[in-house]
Amino acid sequence: MILIIFDTVFGNTGKVAGMLKEALTQKGEAVEMVSIAQVTENNFPSADMIIFGSPTRAFRPTPNMQSFVRAFKGLLKDKKVACFDTRMDVVEVNNKFLTFMAKHFGYANDFFMKAFKKAHAQIVCEPGNFYVKEQAGPLKDDTQTLVQAWAEKILSK
Ligand SMILES: Cc1cc2nc3c(=O)[nH]c(=O)nc-3n(C[C@H](O)[C@H](O)[C@H](O)COP(=O)(O)O)c2cc1C
Repeated sequence: MILIIFDTVFGNTGKVAGMLKEALTQKGEAVEMVSIAQVTENNFPSADMIIFGSPTRAFRPTPNMQSFVRAFKGLLKDKKVACFDTRMDVVEVNNKFLTFMAKHFGYANDFFMKAFKKAHAQIVCEPGNFYVKEQAGPLKDDTQTLVQAWAEKILSK
């Protein structure tokens, strides 16, 4: 079973999680999708792979997602993992300050990848990043296609 754990503030990351669940299910995988508010460590043992998804908020995942990963990273040892985030396109926003900050402080995925490495988890593919047009959404028009392509990468190893 593939477990997708996500957080979302405006709903966009939740939508990506839903698209991912659909794409993986279509490829024959059993998928469970749980929001950060509902997930417990009891969801972990039956998962062969865990995918974490969060909006990027101030260059990191949401505070709840950060706390969750910190609290349970001990359970990720040798576990197959992947992560995705949603974010603004800083080039498109054309905000020099944000572009500078994003370059230095990164995105939610950087936090996840660091935590995965520390936890000695088995990273299955490079992170997925998906873009919103405005802070509250909607997602960019090509998101579904990109999510499907990323789902293939997840399963290719
Ligand atoms: C307080 C706040 C901080 C944000 N920080 C960043 C950021 O550091 N980098 C970025 O690319 N987008 C940032 N964004 C845009 C969010 O990534 C965007 O709102 C999010 O992808 C929407 O996902 P959601 O609907 O699941 O909450 C921020 C938005 C808010 C409201």
